[in-house]
Amino acid sequence: MKVAIVGSGMVGSTAGFALVMRNVVSDLVLIDLNHARARAEAEDIAHAVPFAGSTVVRAGDYADIAGAAVVILACGVSQRPGETRPELLGRNAEVFRAVIGQVMAVAPDAILLVASNPVDTITQVSTRLSGLPPGRVIGSGTILDTARFRWLIGRHLGIAPGSVHGYVLGEHGDSEVLAWSNVRAGSVPLTAFAAQIGAPLTQDVRDRIDLGVRRAAYTIIEGKGATWYGIGAGLARIVQAIGRDEQAVLSVSIVEPDALGVPDVALSLPRLVGAQGVTATLWPDLDAGETEALRHSAEVLKAMADSVPL
Ligand code: 2OP
Repeated sequence: MKVAIVGSGMVGSTAGFALVMRNVVSDLVLIDLNHARARAEAEDIAHAVPFAGSTVVRAGDYADIAGAAVVILACGVSQRPGETRPELLGRNAEVFRAVIGQVMAVAPDAILLVASNPVDTITQVSTRLSGLPPGRVIGSGTILDTARFRWLIGRHLGIAPGSVHGYVLGEHGDSEVLAWSNVRAGSVPLTAFAAQIGAPLTQDVRDRIDLGVRRAAYTIIEGKGATWYGIGAGLARIVQAIGRDEQAVLSVSIVEPDALGVPDVALSLPRLVGAQGVTATLWPDLDAGETEALRHSAEVLKAMADSVPL
């Protein structure tokens, strides 16, 4: 499978590195306005290939996207300390206006995988600009928040994050919804499991985990300027699901025709991801508070999407 990455900053390059380490793609092309940067990142990543597999890694330009099964869009600007994701919307929507047409001209059959923030709204803008069906324009959405949620719960319970089953829904941002009522450790409901092992989920524990998920990006950006490892691994996980036609359930963002009464809005829900992109949404059974919070998140995102001129 051939994959192209538009935007060779930290997120794009780390996604490329993660793909090489997973050995899931045969051909990887890095593109950036700054060609020297793309060339340097491609060479650096290529030096990891002998330790991992057989991916051919190179830098290129838009013409080199032809034939890509997936195009990762990690271009545009990222948050500065104290900045929120929506504050990036105007600048990144402009970047995507320029980029999507160029990508579609050479790779009309590719699945677009959007990483740039605010990722839900940029996914919605990309869906409009590309004219592709919603399941073929996928935003990384809450795949990272879900990972943060599972990791923090796993740490509290002393079990592997991969054995914690649960999702963060809605916006990849401040209004996101941690669907606590659905979480299971193995096959056991979370609260019962936590009580069984003597690590109860007190309100204080929940609040700390909630804050840990919701504020993670802000804290990391304060410390090192940006986040890239978690999202790079998440993007590689999505590409793997597409490349191997896994039909994996991942929390990713696509335009949903009706999200709890909010029409036509991109947001994250657990979805089936395979070779055709997203083919189904698995609506979780939420409690009343979570349902209301998810509707609110959809409304926040709808207002943001409507604020972008067509
Ligand atoms: C993150 O959550 C900044 O959206 C990025 O790490």
